Amino acid sequence: MGPHPVLPQGSPLIKRITIAIDGPAGAGKSSVARKVAQDLGYTYIDTGAMYRAVAWLGLQHAVPLEDEVGTVELARTAAIRFAPAPDGPQRVYANDTDITEAIREPEVTRLSSPVSAISGVRKLLVAQQQSLGSEGGVVMEGRDIGTVVFPNAQVKVFLTASEEERARRRWLEMQGRGQTADICDVQAQIRERDQRDSSRADSPLCAAQDALVIESDGVPFDAVVRRILDAAAEHSGDLAE
Ligand code: DC
Repeated sequence: MGPHPVLPQGSPLIKRITIAIDGPAGAGKSSVARKVAQDLGYTYIDTGAMYRAVAWLGLQHAVPLEDEVGTVELARTAAIRFAPAPDGPQRVYANDTDITEAIREPEVTRLSSPVSAISGVRKLLVAQQQSLGSEGGVVMEGRDIGTVVFPNAQVKVFLTASEEERARRRWLEMQGRGQTADICDVQAQIRERDQRDSSRADSPLCAAQDALVIESDGVPFDAVVRRILDAAAEHSGDLAE
């Protein structure tokens, strides 16, 4: 075996490690993380969905953002749960309501960023994320996974792309969901969200010092996945029999 062991697709690793994937909006984290998890037989956890769930609950219960105590209470009492779906993305539930599609609506997207800046909300969700990943064998994506949630994750990836490319991908995603949007507006919203997520006091978006930084403009999806699988193979010690 060479210096960079290559993991055959679908092979389990000997150790069930933790893979943290962070990066800004629209960098492609979800599709990459989902594929890496699928190839390794790991659990995929989309932590952004948890912040979105709290934003969605705020809208449902008419709790405004300014009411931080009320918003933290929503996060404390919400039973946020993920369930695998045989064909398609994993389903997200809040108090037994399937909110998978609802949390992708533009209004929820817009509110999720200020909701995620509330320290009390972060504290509760980070604890839940740590518990979800406590056994290893997870691919967790978000903004602070390698820095705060699992600072000892064996593999940390910071996945990014130019603002234009990220806006283009988000716009295409929205088209696919039947949402109409102007691409320039999408880019402006991405810029605003990145700015807020990167400048908040608590756990701002930032690459961990030891993260593998992948700039994905022009890099094929499979090549990004491959780099992460290779890093996983290196960090897990070896391949399973
Ligand atoms: O990844 P996403 O777009 O679904 O995330 C929704 C919001 O939640 C986004 O504005 C950043 C925030 N977030 C966060 O602060 N920390 C995480 N670990 C994940 C998401």
